[in-house]
Amino acid sequence: MDDIPEARRDSPRAAVQTAVPSRWLWLGSGLLGLMVVGALWYLIRPVATATEVKTEPALASVTEAAATPLVPAAETESGQVSPEAAAKQASLLGHRQYSEVETTALVPLKNNAGVRLHADAAEKVEEMLATARAQGIQLGVISGFRTWEEQRRLFFEVKAERGQNTETRAEVSAPPGYSEHHTGYAVDFVDLSAPETHLEEPFEQTAAFRWLSENANRYGFEMSFPKDNPDISYEPWHWRYVGDPASLEVFFQEQE
Ligand code: DAL
Ligand code: ZN
Repeated sequence: MDDIPEARRDSPRAAVQTAVPSRWLWLGSGLLGLMVVGALWYLIRPVATATEVKTEPALASVTEAAATPLVPAAETESGQVSPEAAAKQASLLGHRQYSEVETTALVPLKNNAGVRLHADAAEKVEEMLATARAQGIQLGVISGFRTWEEQRRLFFEVKAERGQNTETRAEVSAPPGYSEHHTGYAVDFVDLSAPETHLEEPFEQTAAFRWLSENANRYGFEMSFPKDNPDISYEPWHWRYVGDPASLEVFFQEQE
């Protein structure tokens, strides 16, 4: 007993008295702990909710922005984008948007290496030139594939030279990124015997144009901008190859 501290050597009652407060102490600290955890939970919970409320619209708008086309789609009642709207989304001042074809798909024309066309279109053009020549028609080609940069110069430099405004320029020339010539399937034909008609409306009076009107579709070519087209001025010299699935897809994929 001597090694027990004096305070603990008291009566059994004293021992009981010291044991009871210790149990309460444990209970109390347990409750306090619960209260602290609860309070922390309440403090943290509203913050998390506020963060969600703030984040969700932000994330949604980022996703929406990524998926929203530049021109809002006109949806049909079924929720589908109408073909007219789809075509409009990828167009600028009446010109549809086109990617530049891979240069590996291009080949130069045999008698005019300065003009490159998609190999499939080039093969048909060579046949057309040979057949027309055999019939005494001096059909030629003045322009085929054009890069974005070439189209940029053509659009802006000629616009500046002529003092045209943007709308007027776009009636006769495609802005860069919007020319059929980027595809390698578009061709500007000429009548080599009538240079004054090159890239001009009077080309429609030439023998070469008459030959094209009667024969081009046999080779898979169609006139891109006929007289009645609503957007771009009449270009009787500008034809495009639509004679195989790949070229058809380039020109018609959004209009089906
Ligand atoms: N010349 C026509 C408009 C084109 O480049 O597509
Ligand atoms: Zn053209």
